[in-house]
Amino acid sequence: MNCPVLEGVRLNTPAHVRHARLIEWVAQIAALTEAESVYWCDGSTEEYDRLCAQLVAAGTFTKLNPQLRPNSYLARSSPSDVARVEDRTFICSERKEDAGPTNNWMAPAEMRELLQTGRPDGTPALFRGAMRGRTMYVVPFSMGPLGSPIAHIGVELSDSPYVAVNMKIMTRMGRDVLDVLGSDGHFVPCVHTVGAPLQPGQKDVAWPCNETKYIVHYPETQEIWSYGSGYGGNALLGKKCFALRIASTMGRDQGWLAEHMLILGVESPEGRKHHIAAAFPSACGKTNFAMLIPPAGLPGWKVTTIGDDIAWIKPGLDGRLYAINPEAGYFGVAPGTNDKTNPNCMACLERDTIFTNVALTDDGDVWWEGMTDTPPAHLIDWQGRDWTPEIGRDTGAKAAHPNARFTVAATNNPALDPAWDDAAGVPIDAFVFGGRRSTTVPLVTEARDWVEGVYMAATMGSETTAAAGGKQGVVRRDPFAMLPFVGYNMSDYFQHWLDLGRKLQNAGATLPKIYCVNWFRKGPDGKFVWPGYGENMRVLKWMVERVEGEAQGVENAFGVTPRYEDLTWTGLDFNREQFQHVDSIETDAWKTELALHAELFQQLAYHLPRELTDTKAKIEARLSA
Ligand code: OXD
Ligand code: MN
Repeated sequence: MNCPVLEGVRLNTPAHVRHARLIEWVAQIAALTEAESVYWCDGSTEEYDRLCAQLVAAGTFTKLNPQLRPNSYLARSSPSDVARVEDRTFICSERKEDAGPTNNWMAPAEMRELLQTGRPDGTPALFRGAMRGRTMYVVPFSMGPLGSPIAHIGVELSDSPYVAVNMKIMTRMGRDVLDVLGSDGHFVPCVHTVGAPLQPGQKDVAWPCNETKYIVHYPETQEIWSYGSGYGGNALLGKKCFALRIASTMGRDQGWLAEHMLILGVESPEGRKHHIAAAFPSACGKTNFAMLIPPAGLPGWKVTTIGDDIAWIKPGLDGRLYAINPEAGYFGVAPGTNDKTNPNCMACLERDTIFTNVALTDDGDVWWEGMTDTPPAHLIDWQGRDWTPEIGRDTGAKAAHPNARFTVAATNNPALDPAWDDAAGVPIDAFVFGGRRSTTVPLVTEARDWVEGVYMAATMGSETTAAAGGKQGVVRRDPFAMLPFVGYNMSDYFQHWLDLGRKLQNAGATLPKIYCVNWFRKGPDGKFVWPGYGENMRVLKWMVERVEGEAQGVENAFGVTPRYEDLTWTGLDFNREQFQHVDSIETDAWKTELALHAELFQQLAYHLPRELTDTKAKIEARLSA
């Protein structure tokens, strides 16, 4: 089928596309954006190589030295386009209260005028003509194993070949998806433009984007429209926009969970396997935790990765919760990753990787802060400028941007779990919630029940990182690590968790245990006290032994925490005093903390579940006792 649209632009629809609604929508968007041509991605390796070569020719990619980093590329973004733009992200539900106080909201009709139709006063729509002079890539993708009952399909239309190649790595992308979609399958439509149309003869820039940015979600119609940014979370629309914001509303309506969680498998020396889903805010070590290598002091324990960022979790027929990783790759933060913090990740990145905003070495390889103790004597920094350790010292300039990223396929991971692509998902035994807190929150606490666990997750706080624009290092409440990612009212989201737990419990299911962790407590010298990384296995071991009913702990104001003797210390020099520092619950600090919970609850008062205020009252009573 080859349907001509508007003034000679051809849709170039391949013969195997049988979905009339999809073809019609592609035609509409090509007409609106005035794309010069349309290209349907087939997801093949040949296509990936061709698009990467095209990106090299355009100056967007630099091919890295194939001897040192085979089949890998470096992209440098515009300095104005380096992170997710939370203040430009909108949930356009019909009713403002359905977006809730934690999301930016605009009425759908008003947003559609701005983006799609133009204003009555004649202001043209942002998407009108936005792809002039560019190719529109049709990117069909599955979030989750193709055909899995937990998976869902999306189609992204984007004028960025950088997006197309990243989507090839991050999702199951291409022709097979169209086959599953058939002639009338359901898909989430995602429209993306960098917002930089080209006039005839105008030379393109290496990283086109626009100062104006809109990342827009219409939950009722399940649509995503993204304008002006080419950067990951704003532009790879399968990830945060679909797999979290839109999927969380699908989960609310259909009785499942879309979460900002890694999923890992943990196997004991006796071969008993458990699965943990863990939520941490952006750039707090989810990828490191998901790829953890247990220390020598805990022989026989094994950790395997199912996912590093997002989990879709649905109740199975047996009443247990089953999780899949909707993604097929990792879009992780490079700075701080090294052979000590995450050797499995370093192994992933040895080849077949797209790096964005890291530094380039003189021999055509990559480097970032924290990769090695001593930086190379000369580098080209993430903005393409000369960089030396002296320049770094004198100006404070980083060689790599703090939010520099890698995009790599999950199949590069030596610790990949054999069930990572299993359509049925893996049964979850425990949920873990963790923030970056230099004080107050103990190393690990187990919730006494589901409601207390939901309270812990709802009141989580974390110090902000470079993954989002804005000030870094300030504590903000980040409920469930979902603050920037819940596609509806946060209080309704809490209620959804409580309702799901109650429903499963009433059906006789054993619910996963819930834990709150904090790897980031600091000593008086400002340094982290807990060694973290592989040593987190000691905490993981305690958790799975609690799930099995074996390990001990003590009840306190907030839940159950281990005593020093309840963790295994073989091979680690960590004394009682240090443990006390990371595990203690100080009454004064907790009184201040609870006042901050009260502030959060005030902000979320509309529809805030009663169970949460009741739980708070119980903690307060225990603290005062
Ligand atoms: C991410 C993020 O990119 O959370 O995963 O920002
Ligand atoms: Mn994330």
